[in-house]
Amino acid sequence: LTVVLLFGGRSSEHSISCATAGGVLAAIDRDRYRVIPVGITRAGAFVLEEDTPAKFGLDAAALPEVVDNGTRVQWPDSTSNRELTVTDAAGSRSLGSIDLVFPIMHGPFGEDGTIQGMLELLGLPYVGSGVLASALGMDKHFTKTVFQQASLPVAPWRTITADDWADAPGMAYAALEELGAPVFVKPARAGSSVGVSRVSSAEQLAEAMAVGLAEDNKVLIEAGLSGRELEVAVLQGRPGEPARASVAGEVLVTGRDFYDFEAKYLGAAGIELVCPAVLRHDELAEMQRMAIRAFEAIDGAGLARVDFFLTSDGWVINEINTMPGFTPISMFPSCWLASGYTYPQLIDELIAVALA
Ligand code: DAL
Ligand code: MG
Repeated sequence: LTVVLLFGGRSSEHSISCATAGGVLAAIDRDRYRVIPVGITRAGAFVLEEDTPAKFGLDAAALPEVVDNGTRVQWPDSTSNRELTVTDAAGSRSLGSIDLVFPIMHGPFGEDGTIQGMLELLGLPYVGSGVLASALGMDKHFTKTVFQQASLPVAPWRTITADDWADAPGMAYAALEELGAPVFVKPARAGSSVGVSRVSSAEQLAEAMAVGLAEDNKVLIEAGLSGRELEVAVLQGRPGEPARASVAGEVLVTGRDFYDFEAKYLGAAGIELVCPAVLRHDELAEMQRMAIRAFEAIDGAGLARVDFFLTSDGWVINEINTMPGFTPISMFPSCWLASGYTYPQLIDELIAVALA
């Protein structure tokens, strides 16, 4: 099978997508798959990338990046034979016929239904959620709205647009007052904690709003929850079979404000990931049931990671990620590793489900 691994992209999570791609390039079974790495630059050009996993390692000093190398990849439209072509200074050549696209992209223009829409138009099978689930999962306001409708508990929040903030900043201050400090200010459509701030007093709100609104024109002010932070990975079942949830992983926040970008990817101190997490059997079963319900509530496909808080009042869902971080140290593969899948087997399963 020929698989196009699509990564990078126009979002603020560009480098995380590259690191994930490096992990997949290193792990995918080369006897079973021919892999064509296609990078999307930060400006949005589709380029033929090198098949060199080490190039995309997660190095805190120099985050990996798709650089415009002058090549351009052309996608086949739905009437053609799924033949991918590349153009460079020497002209155009065929890269052969492709079977599947693995869009391992995070954030807007990758995880939000836009790439998925392009692939639908082109008639190309792909790994992961479709247009609607991707769009829903990317937008924290709409994710929470759908979860509430599915009777899944979410943290109370208010959504403030850039126009609201410009015209009536009192709305944001009222939200802080009403929800009670600390709150988290989050861009509605971003990931990896980019643009997220913890706000413990009204004096910190303006700065946090500016940081959040730099990522998106809509932010959420969300009540901060106290409790344990746990995550579970979901895989779509084969035809006729239900979705499956992994064991849980736990984020232990020991010496930091919260699980921010530096802690996630740059090795900053103060966070420990534990997988499998220590939970009672009934707690895990409830969490897994809710994770699958969340996956189904957004009409998810392929894979997801669902993030929770375990509070004194029980489970609260923080969010769903339709294309979770997939670097070798990420929670999604770690949870499946602890549930009996190796990294290459996990890739096999995602491809098999996408083609089933
Ligand atoms: N948005 C990052 C990649 C995650 O959810 O893992
Ligand atoms: Mg996320």
